[in-house]
Parts: sequence; C-alpha cells; structure tokens
Amino acid sequence: MADPGGGGGGAERTSTLQAMKGAGEKIAVLTCYDYPTAVWQEEAGVDVIFVADSVGTNILGYEDEREVTMQDMIHHLKAVRRGVKHTYLLADMPFGSCDTPDAAVENALRFVDLGADAVKLEGYKVEAFEALAARGIDTWAHLGLNPQIHDGRRLKAKTATTAVRLVKRAQALQQAGAGVLVLELIPEEVGDLVTRRLTIPTIGIAAGRLTDGQVLVVADVLGMGDREFRHVARYSEFSTAGREAMRRYVADVRVGRFPGERQVRHLSARELAVLEAEEVRASP
Ligand code: KIV
Repeated sequence: MADPGGGGGGAERTSTLQAMKGAGEKIAVLTCYDYPTAVWQEEAGVDVIFVADSVGTNILGYEDEREVTMQDMIHHLKAVRRGVKHTYLLADMPFGSCDTPDAAVENALRFVDLGADAVKLEGYKVEAFEALAARGIDTWAHLGLNPQIHDGRRLKAKTATTAVRLVKRAQALQQAGAGVLVLELIPEEVGDLVTRRLTIPTIGIAAGRLTDGQVLVVADVLGMGDREFRHVARYSEFSTAGREAMRRYVADVRVGRFPGERQVRHLSARELAVLEAEEVRASP
C-alpha cells in the first residue's frame, strides 16, 4: 500500500484504501495492542493496524468487551502509536463512548489527538457518523455481529430479510460519512452483496472471501490463545512455544543451569585480588 505519510491524516489514508478497492487489491488488517507487535506488523506490511477493544478479552483478562474503557484504549493506543511509523492506525471506540453524537466527537478527538488516523464505531449510529464527518474525523463502521451489543454470538444476516436490512444499514452509514465498513459473522454471499453495493471498502471477519479486505484478532493469528475459531487460520503456535519456553526457564533456574557462563559478568583479575585482600583484612 502506498504510504501517505504522517499520523492523523485519516482522509488521505482512507482514500488509499478506496483506491485499493477500485484496483481489486485486497486489504490486510490486524488488531494490535502493544509496541512490539506494532513494529512486527509494520515490518510485515499490514495495511491497517487496529487498536481494537478485543484488547479487553485477549490481553486484559476481562470477561466482556463492554468492560473496556476509554482509559484502557488510550493506554494501548499510545503504546501502538510508538511502534507505528507509517501505517494507517485505526482505534476502536469502546462501549459507552458514542452514546450521543457529542460524546462520540469528544472521545474520537481524544484518539485523533493521540495519532489515530480514524476511529471505528460498532452498530447503526447514523447521527454519530454524521457528527464525526462534520468534524472531519475519519470513521469506520461495523455491522453484522457487534460484540458490544449483546444480541447473541451467532451468524447474522442469514435470511434474505435480514440481509436486505444489513445492506440498507450499510448504505445509510456510507451516506452518513463512514469511510470503511467492517462486516462480522455473516454468510459469504451477504458479504459479497454488501461489498458490491457500497463504494467504500468492506473488511470482513468471518464474512467470507469476497469482501475488499480481511481483519483478524492478532492473538488468534499468532496462536496465543487455546480457543479455536472456524474463521481463523493460526499462522503460528505462540501459546505452545511460550509455555514451553517458560517451563524450560523455571527448570533451568531450579537446577542452576540459568544463568550460565554466557550470561554473567566477572570482576577483572586485578579487582578480584583487591577484593579478596579486603575480605581477608575484614574477616575476624
Ligand atoms: O475488537 C475487535 O477485535 C474487532 C474485530 C472486528 C477485529 O472489532
């Protein structure tokens, strides 16, 4: 993806994604919660690095994404921002942060001030999108399964009626100013239909192969958790490797194998001789 440069330049960056849609070039998005992972993602060429509210259940040990606060998001956004030099940086608006259009603007501006290029809002919040567009803040919408809105973690838009409603809502959010739409847990055919009906890019998660791009939770891609999801491809087994590394460390400490000669520093022979002489003098 071309690098439009700088942070907080949402509009230009979102239009780059638009151009990718036009060119049929798929967009790769990953969630990110910390500095080292941000550095790796930028090196890997991820198109959009996304500080998502799934930080709550994946990193902070919360039971539910609704527990994530603005303070949590700010803490993680700052860490990720330090690792991102050129890539488009997206921040998730947590539960309760967009209850009114004014609150949405106030909270989104906090993220933009910290270097987010755009913010993502869950659900059908037309007025909030209009208010954010009026302030020149770039936005992503999110339809289908919305984890912040507790209406069951099951396939959405699985009937013709609910699929048509999804298309209409997507069009209304595009009209209200959303620059990108995330589609979660819907049939592939519906992901395709929404993608063809919209001019803005669609990014799918468990939404089939025909959206303009894909997003996954980085912990799932790396294999950090023990849960298996049908929509996820695990590209590594971090949890197995991490557990094994820690078990070996504990075992090495217990038997005195760590630290080894390579990890220690020694006094020079001269200082050691002085110290030993001191010790002899000081001993009773
Ligand atoms: O919080 C999250 O992880 C998301 C997904 C769509 C990636 O919003």
